[in-house]
Amino acid sequence: MRGKRILLVIGGGIAAFKALDLIRRLRERGASVTPVLTRAAEEFVTPLSVSALAANKVYRDLFDLTDEAEMGHIQLSRSADLIVVAPATADLLAKMAQGRADDLASTLLLATDTRVLVAPAMNVRMWNHPATQRNLAILRGDGILFTGPNEGDMACGEYGPGRMSEPLEIVAAVEAAFASGPLAGRHVLVTSGPTHEPIDPVRYIANRSSGAQGTALARALLALGARVTFVTGPAAVPPPDGADVVRVETAAQMLAAVQAALPADAAVFAAAVADWRVANASGSKMKKQAGQAPALEFAENPDILATISKGPKRPALVVGFAAETDDVIAHATAKLARKGCDWIVANDVSPETGIMGGAENAVTIIRQDGSDTWPRMSKDLVARRLAEEIAKTL
Ligand code: C5P
Repeated sequence: MRGKRILLVIGGGIAAFKALDLIRRLRERGASVTPVLTRAAEEFVTPLSVSALAANKVYRDLFDLTDEAEMGHIQLSRSADLIVVAPATADLLAKMAQGRADDLASTLLLATDTRVLVAPAMNVRMWNHPATQRNLAILRGDGILFTGPNEGDMACGEYGPGRMSEPLEIVAAVEAAFASGPLAGRHVLVTSGPTHEPIDPVRYIANRSSGAQGTALARALLALGARVTFVTGPAAVPPPDGADVVRVETAAQMLAAVQAALPADAAVFAAAVADWRVANASGSKMKKQAGQAPALEFAENPDILATISKGPKRPALVVGFAAETDDVIAHATAKLARKGCDWIVANDVSPETGIMGGAENAVTIIRQDGSDTWPRMSKDLVARRLAEEIAKTL
């Protein structure tokens, strides 16, 4: 990050206080920070503290005659290596999605030819609102980079997704944006973890996937310079720093998140997606009735890998996983044809192998034209080798 010029747009939300620490963290790593405050941001942090921490002038007004004489807003928008918007409020995201330019921050974001990374922060209802979700889909399609939001307690007293990424998480996303390597400029989508299919509001059907292999793979792809969208079910291991993490619970949500993340140069489907969901899931908690077990009915879940492999926005390289307990190669080879993907990473998850939830994996890569069996090794090493194979192929 040394020597990189970052234009930091601070939006008007309570998370603006974290932007002060972010400035320090970026500067510690050798980046220079030019801050831009929206009018609302000034209600949360003062231009003086922002300027002092950035050791730089703060830009605030579109029609400031001195600023315009020194450096016009168009030049300002293009003088950075990366624009970071933190916090990105619902209002700022809406303006960006619509291409509005009614203040300095939105004008810079519309005029720029530089990449933009946003760290959204807002109340959970605002985040979940269809209007915000529509805007996010538009911005993802425009190639805007995202970090967060995280799930947790909110300043407004509610709980859920909407907390801005922590400063060090934003730093990791900035580092990922500047990453060099054979996959620099490539977008790779990774699914990971199990899915949870609700039975009622408190019970669900799940599986033993920890998300370890998918997470390791996302890390390895980031290390080779890729931009990674990481769509994860409720996994046991934390998601990789620097990826755009999209958290989902059900298979249906995972499919929607994957479709929203396209286009991508490659997609790796490492998630252990539930094959069925409960068709008669109850909206309220099922009551225990003596001598009466509830009868669950099942409906088939969408096959995400097959849908994307055969869909209109198919990435150039589509990789599936096959966790089998018998006849691994035969089943996986059949799966390659059935799903329409390019490679299948097949592994034996019989309980005696200790692979499911363990730290090691033994895989065979099955392609249209043959297969390679790798020796048993750590999931990290499998991930690194697989990422290298992907880089060679793209
Ligand atoms: O059919 P099976 O579940 O064994 O296939 C495994 C592969 O298919 C994995 O790559 C998994 O992520 C993907 N899959 C999927 N959607 C499903 C089921 C499996 O994407 N509903």
